[in-house]
Amino acid sequence: MTKKAAGKLPNRMVPYSQAFKTFICQDWADYPVDQREPCAVNAYTPARRQAIQDLFPDDRIVIPAGGFKQRSNDCDYRFRPHSAFSHLTGLGEDFEPDAVLVIEAGQARLYFHARVPRTDPEFYSSANYGEMWVGPRPSLEEMSRYTNLTVVDSSQLNADLAAPVKSTGKLRITPGADPKVEALVHALRGRDDDADRELESALSELRLIKDAYEIDQMDQACAATLTGFEAVIADIPEAVRRGRGERWVEGIFGLHARHLGNAVGYDTIAASGDHGCTLHWIRNDGDLRPGDLLLLDAGVELDSLYTADVTRTLPISGKFTPAQRKVYDAVLAAQQAGMDAAKPGAAFIDVHQAAVRVIAQHLVDWGILDVDLEETLSDQGGQFRRWMVHGTSHHLGIDVHDCAQARRKLYRGGTLKAGMIITVEPGIYFKSTDLLVPEEFRGIGIRIEDDILITQDGYRNLSADFPRDADAVEAWMAQVQSR
Ligand code: GLY
Ligand code: MN
Ligand code: MN
Repeated sequence: MTKKAAGKLPNRMVPYSQAFKTFICQDWADYPVDQREPCAVNAYTPARRQAIQDLFPDDRIVIPAGGFKQRSNDCDYRFRPHSAFSHLTGLGEDFEPDAVLVIEAGQARLYFHARVPRTDPEFYSSANYGEMWVGPRPSLEEMSRYTNLTVVDSSQLNADLAAPVKSTGKLRITPGADPKVEALVHALRGRDDDADRELESALSELRLIKDAYEIDQMDQACAATLTGFEAVIADIPEAVRRGRGERWVEGIFGLHARHLGNAVGYDTIAASGDHGCTLHWIRNDGDLRPGDLLLLDAGVELDSLYTADVTRTLPISGKFTPAQRKVYDAVLAAQQAGMDAAKPGAAFIDVHQAAVRVIAQHLVDWGILDVDLEETLSDQGGQFRRWMVHGTSHHLGIDVHDCAQARRKLYRGGTLKAGMIITVEPGIYFKSTDLLVPEEFRGIGIRIEDDILITQDGYRNLSADFPRDADAVEAWMAQVQSR
C-alpha cells in the first residue's frame, strides 16, 4: 500500500462503492479527550514572534511549515517542518504539513488543516490527512490549546492573504518553504525576492542567541547523543565481526536517535580507516578493522528538532597506536585552543584561527608543511588547508548548520555573544594517497567535535560528558565494553 494510493494513482486505486461510502461513516466512537500537554515552549514562542514583528512592524509575515517532499514516485520523505516555522510555533511533529503561521499587527494566527468528521471522505481517502492513513489529527481547539495560538482553518488562508496589507507595510514570505503558498504570495504581490530574503535572514539571525528552552533542549540532545555513542562503542566488536561495520554503527546510532528523539540531526558519518579523511563520509559501507580508527560524527535530533553534533575518533581495538595518538593529541590541542578563544566579545572567526594555528604549527614541526607558520596562515598562503579544508565552527540548534541564512557580517564576520551555541571541530586528515605525508600517518583521519554554549564569561561545553583526551577515550571504551 503506498502513501497516495487513495487519491492520485487511478491505475492502482480500487473505486469506492456507494455501499462502502455509507458504511464507513457509521458507528465510530467519539474522539477521546486530547491528553496532550500544552507545549513547554509556549512560554518562549511569543517573544520570538514579537522579535520578528518588531523588525517588520507594518508587515504581514507568512511562515509556512511546508509540505511533504517527494522521495520517489508517490513516496515522500518523513515530514519535517521548516525550521523557522518550528522555532516560532514550537511545533516539530508530523501533524502540521501545509500549516502556515501568519504574523501581523502583533498577532499570530496558525492556519491548520484540522481533522474532519468521519463522514467526510477525507477520513478514508486522503493519504496526507485522513485518519485511516495517518492517524487522528487534532481539532482546531486542540491545536490552539496545545500551541496557545489562534488557530484557524487552512481553507481561510487564501482569502486572508489576499486582504489588503497596511499601506506602509509589505507582504513577506519565508522563501523556499512551501511552493504553493509562495506562488500565491507572488500572484498577490509580484516577486519581491529582496523582501523575502530579508525576512529569511532575520528568521535565521533570530536563532543566533538561544533562549533558556533552547539551551535545555541542547543539553538534552547532547545527553541522548552520548547514549547513542556508548551504544556504538559497546557494539564495535560486533560491527567488526559482521563486516560492513560502518553500516552497523550507523544503524545502532540511528536506533537510539529514533528511540530517544525524532531522528538523527544529519546523516551519520561512520568513517573507518581512510574513510575518516572524507569529511562527509555517509556512504558508510566499509568494514571496521582492528588497528584502524572509527571517526563517528553523529547527533540525536530531539522531538523538538534541536540536534547535537558531536564527533569522536575511536580506536577500533580500544587503544591508539603511537602514530594515531600523535595526530589525535595535535587535534585535541587545536580544539582546546579554539575553545579557549571562545568568549563573549571575541570574533566568531577567532575560534577557527586559534585552532588552525595549532594544526599548522604541528604540520610545520612534523616537517610536512614546507612553508613557515605565518605564511601558511596568511590569506595568500593557506597550504595547511590541504589537511583541514573545513571551518572549525558553525552555529548549532534546531538545524545542524543553524542560522545558515544569517548575514555574513553577523555570522563569519560576527562577534560571539552569550547564548550562542557553536561547534568546535578541528581535524587533521592524512589520506592514504597523500605522498607529502610520512607513511606512518597515512590513512589517519581525526576530528574532535564538541558543542559549546557561549556564557557571560567564557563557554560551557554542552558535550563535556563525552571523554575527550586519548587516555580518557581509551578508558571510556574499556569501561563501556565491560558493562
Ligand atoms: N556533522 C556535520 C558537521 O559537523 O558540520
Ligand atoms: Mn559540525
Ligand atoms: Mn559533525
